[in-house]
Amino acid sequence: MVGFEEIYLVAHNTPSESRESGLRCRFIRINEQWGIKFYRKESMRNKTHDFQKKAAEVGLAPRIGQCFELTIPFNEDDDEPVEVYGYVTECISETYGDRMAYEMYSCSYDECTDSQQNEIEESMYRDYAYDKLIAGMCHIGITTSDIHIMNVGYLKGKLVCIDFSEEEEL
Ligand SMILES: Nc1ncnc2c1ncn2[C@@H]1O[C@H](COP(=O)(O)OP(=O)(O)O)[C@@H](O)[C@H]1O
Ligand SMILES: [Mg+2]
Repeated sequence: MVGFEEIYLVAHNTPSESRESGLRCRFIRINEQWGIKFYRKESMRNKTHDFQKKAAEVGLAPRIGQCFELTIPFNEDDDEPVEVYGYVTECISETYGDRMAYEMYSCSYDECTDSQQNEIEESMYRDYAYDKLIAGMCHIGITTSDIHIMNVGYLKGKLVCIDFSEEEEL
């Protein structure tokens, strides 16, 4: 597992442009198995942490490590460091979108045309693994409004959900 010293060093030494990001979260891989994700809002960290933990307990999300608070720039253009709130997470090997882009079109997801990206999205809805993931999430009482091809991915060959920022309790 990853300790606070390692989290501190990685967070301080990884330039903002080398992080992966969505609308709310910043993600930094620490090693093959573990990474950190962090948010501007403590309430958002707590929410995603709790939903991911619940899903991880039944194998539908990456496992979770410790929570932390740090003072570092959140965005590339932040002049001053800000408080960020995060937690350690197990890493997926790749998102559904990335894997299927290579399998279907031999390129990265970002290099796909809009219609290729739509085809990848369509393929997910026909995938039995996706049905199983949705059913499993419903079973533990989590709705799935934001499950799209870049918010699910493969962990030891199994499809799991990585982004719980839009999830709600049923
Ligand atoms: N467990 C993880 N393993 C590997 N990459 C991840 C993981 N969680 C997030 N990421 C990367 O960080 C990006 C943003 O994370 P995400 O949870 O989707 O945040 P947001 O709510 O901002 O969309 C993802 O698209 C993905 O590239
Ligand atoms: Mg996302």
